[in-house]
Amino acid sequence: MTLVKSKQRVADHGEVFTPPWMVQAMLDLVKDETERIDSRFLEPACGSGNFMVQILRRKLAVVALKYGASEFERQHYALLGLMCIYGIELLPDNISECRANLLDVWAEALALSDTDEPYRTAVQVLNVNVVHGDALTMRELAAVNVDV
Ligand SMILES: C[S@@+](CC[C@H](N)C(=O)[O-])C[C@H]1O[C@@H](n2cnc3c(N)ncnc32)[C@H](O)[C@@H]1O
Repeated sequence: MTLVKSKQRVADHGEVFTPPWMVQAMLDLVKDETERIDSRFLEPACGSGNFMVQILRRKLAVVALKYGASEFERQHYALLGLMCIYGIELLPDNISECRANLLDVWAEALALSDTDEPYRTAVQVLNVNVVHGDALTMRELAAVNVDV
């Protein structure tokens, strides 16, 4: 995993991604919350979603454990988990990567593809919850949506 895309982006936007081991260590500080399906997380400078993806993975592990026996419940609670994760990011390419990374993890855990209805719902959730905006002014920038 590369932590820097370019020196210019570091200078312009402070874009340095957090390494996986540090993400896990920081999430462990609030372990119980990361393992609660309906706990809400907002990351105001989310980049490509390093924290959000790991939070989602933790929630999905709990979903599998508690609701693995029922496909309906598994999908329902997995969607609830996804709906409780929010991000704001300034740069359009990071927004797209963040949504795609979350969608990949979510869809893989449920073995869903882009022709499945819940997958399309997840895309809509990500378009709404992962906002292309400026977290300092709390203003939304141009819409960047994932298409299905
Ligand atoms: C230090 S990186 C961290 C990314 C991610 N949170 C991580 O830990 O890997 C900061 C991110 O915040 C974004 N950013 C910078 N200023 C911002 C602002 N005013 N509003 C929203 N995002 C911003 C950058 O584009 C960059 O992706």
